[in-house]
Amino acid sequence: MQPIRPIIPNSPPKKPHTMIEIKGIKKSFGDLQVLKGIDLTINKGEIVSIVGPSGAGKTTLLQIIGTLDKPDNGRITIDGTDISSMNKKQLSEFRNKHIGFVFQFHQLLPEFNALENVMIPAFIAGASHSEAKKRAEELLDFMGLSDRANHKPNELSGGEKQRVAVARALVNHPDVILADEPSGSLDTKNKTELHQLFFDLRDKFGQTFVIVTHDESLATITDRTIHLRDGEIEHPEETTENTEQQEQDKQ
Ligand SMILES: Nc1ncnc2c1ncn2[C@@H]1O[C@H](COP(=O)(O)OP(=O)(O)OP(=O)(O)O)[C@@H](O)[C@H]1O
Ligand SMILES: [Mg+2]
Repeated sequence: MQPIRPIIPNSPPKKPHTMIEIKGIKKSFGDLQVLKGIDLTINKGEIVSIVGPSGAGKTTLLQIIGTLDKPDNGRITIDGTDISSMNKKQLSEFRNKHIGFVFQFHQLLPEFNALENVMIPAFIAGASHSEAKKRAEELLDFMGLSDRANHKPNELSGGEKQRVAVARALVNHPDVILADEPSGSLDTKNKTELHQLFFDLRDKFGQTFVIVTHDESLATITDRTIHLRDGEIEHPEETTENTEQQEQDKQ
């Protein structure tokens, strides 16, 4: 006979913590309307990919989320802070503390070594030399790059440079990592490693990732894929949920 299983009361479902909320974002360059009213909510700890044809407005949207560009209309809230009304100085402080960027081409400073490149945003945020060094060393260690720390970018491989760029994006423990074609310049092996790194980081630090990509293999493993076309989200009601793991990972 089957033993009777005790009834375990269901704990109430956790309310997702909204990290990014975008409402009615519009953006034009001259006569060209690039974003036509974007609404999007992204939860803490989610890894979301944005895909779509060239010119669809993906980079423009990412730059606006990252406070590097301003929308013509609409509101953006990041972890409860409305960034729409901030002035330039407030925005750059906010960005330095809360947002990390990873670009297609690493954009490391060639005259500084890997460790120094990672330390720079920490200095800008006001960390002491020893604190910045400690954090940068920890991150490079996590990326498996301890033995490359004293090398300048031109002495690193493409994959290593991109991992240094990710470490630099993380040094101020940002809530949100924005990546624009982060693996676009990498070969398959380095690409796979970088993608795995995003998931490891999310698991370790609980960060939220928004990744613009043309890479199908990345888009399909993210929690959710947003399809952007001609400045609009396609079929918002059908926005792809890629995995149920997302529910468990939300905190
Ligand atoms: N600063 C700018 N001034 C004028 N037009 C711009 C500017 N930035 C982007 N655009 C135009 O806006 C449109 C959307 O550009 P965006 O860079 O967002 O596209 P994308 O989806 O990232 O494309 P890709 O996949 O090629 O990177 C394009 O037609 C582009 O030429
Ligand atoms: Mg782009």
